[in-house]
Amino acid sequence: MAHEMDSLNPNSIVKGGEDIDVSKRLKVAIIGTGWIAHSHMESYLQMPDVDIVAGADIIPGKAEAFFKEFGVNARCYLSTEELLDNEVLDAVSVCVYNRAHAKCAILALNAGVNVLLEKPMCVTIEEAADIVRAEKKSGKILSIGFQPRYDPNMKMIKKIVQSGELGEVYYIQTGGGRRRGIPTPFGTSFIQADTGGLGALADIGCYSLDMVLNAVGYPKPLTVTGYKSDFFGKNKDYFRTEGNPESYADLFGVDDFAAGFIRLEGGIILDFRIAWAMHLDTPGDTIIMGKKGSLRIPSTECWNGTVGGEMTIYHDLEGLGTETKLPIIEDTSKGLFYQKIRSFLDACKNDGAAPVPSCEIIYNQAILDGIARSAELGREIEIVIPEI
Ligand SMILES: NC(=O)c1ccc[n+]([C@@H]2O[C@H](COP(=O)([O-])OP(=O)(O)OC[C@H]3O[C@@H](n4cnc5c(N)ncnc54)[C@H](O)[C@@H]3O)[C@@H](O)[C@H]2O)c1
Repeated sequence: MAHEMDSLNPNSIVKGGEDIDVSKRLKVAIIGTGWIAHSHMESYLQMPDVDIVAGADIIPGKAEAFFKEFGVNARCYLSTEELLDNEVLDAVSVCVYNRAHAKCAILALNAGVNVLLEKPMCVTIEEAADIVRAEKKSGKILSIGFQPRYDPNMKMIKKIVQSGELGEVYYIQTGGGRRRGIPTPFGTSFIQADTGGLGALADIGCYSLDMVLNAVGYPKPLTVTGYKSDFFGKNKDYFRTEGNPESYADLFGVDDFAAGFIRLEGGIILDFRIAWAMHLDTPGDTIIMGKKGSLRIPSTECWNGTVGGEMTIYHDLEGLGTETKLPIIEDTSKGLFYQKIRSFLDACKNDGAAPVPSCEIIYNQAILDGIARSAELGREIEIVIPEI
């Protein structure tokens, strides 16, 4: 691999301004070699301190084809168990579909391996608790793959809230949606109940929740009234016009729209809605309302955890209603995925804290799970986080 410049330290390589210590190399494997595994691989290949040594996928030949595509010579297995039994690893990327997140992450943690787990954390709150138990027992790093956190605009949202500029936050509206955006270009693992588990709610809903919960310090969710529906995914015409087989409508076993009204510890109300498909341009901007000011974060056409345009702070200046516009900040980094992987690797090397820790994301998962359960019961429910 070509490196941009050698630093004075013979053990470190300066790459794009970063000082990466290559005296400690990490042996990494990828579990699940589908769509998102490609982004992980592209970032790992830019890391001078990583050796990609192995991978696993339950589909015969899939892992082999994946590594061949990247010209990487790695050992391939048909299960996570087989991979962990045969390899000595420092870290794994868990890139399997949602329903397999808990199983693969727990197996890796139990084997003493650091885990970068793709978002959403998993499907149910019980699975999330099981993952955190395994993490605690192992003493290893577990980070959840929320790359939008590295977006400078997302960081600005948190800075504004944490600065006290808005005063005490009491109400948040968040979510997002796509007019047509059921994710089927690369197969059906997102839309099937036995693989995706949850649909828009978890796939893109987890990003909306993270954007605002991270800004307000991840208060514990207390109660939720949830709703979900599947009017588009179950409609054969939807897939016909999208160029997919009509039979996808028969396979569709998750939600394509969900909404929730959540009470958070500290008295904050969270009003949330999310759509993979709808007869609407947007279900609304994200707004964070505080006693001193409010922040409006424009929605995007294709919600995937980005800020849609310049944000506005509404506040009073000497008694005068005033608006402050915050222009979009350009991301000049090597990319959000690169940062997600680099921050995880740095935590592994330095025994650092997980960049996106489970103690926060378990609340994100509790809300997703709570919305799904409340929707099924047709009433408000209390959110119970299992004892860890
Ligand atoms: N962070 C992001 O921007 C982003 C984007 C897309 C997907 N994702 C997440 O990544 C995950 C995977 O999504 P995808 O689009 O790559 O799905 P995919 O269906 O393309 O790939 C998943 C792969 O995992 C394999 N697999 C399933 N169970 C396994 C197991 N027990 N052991 C080994 N392999 C197993 C499948 O055979 C498949 O090849 C999902 O949870 C999704 O939410 C994240």
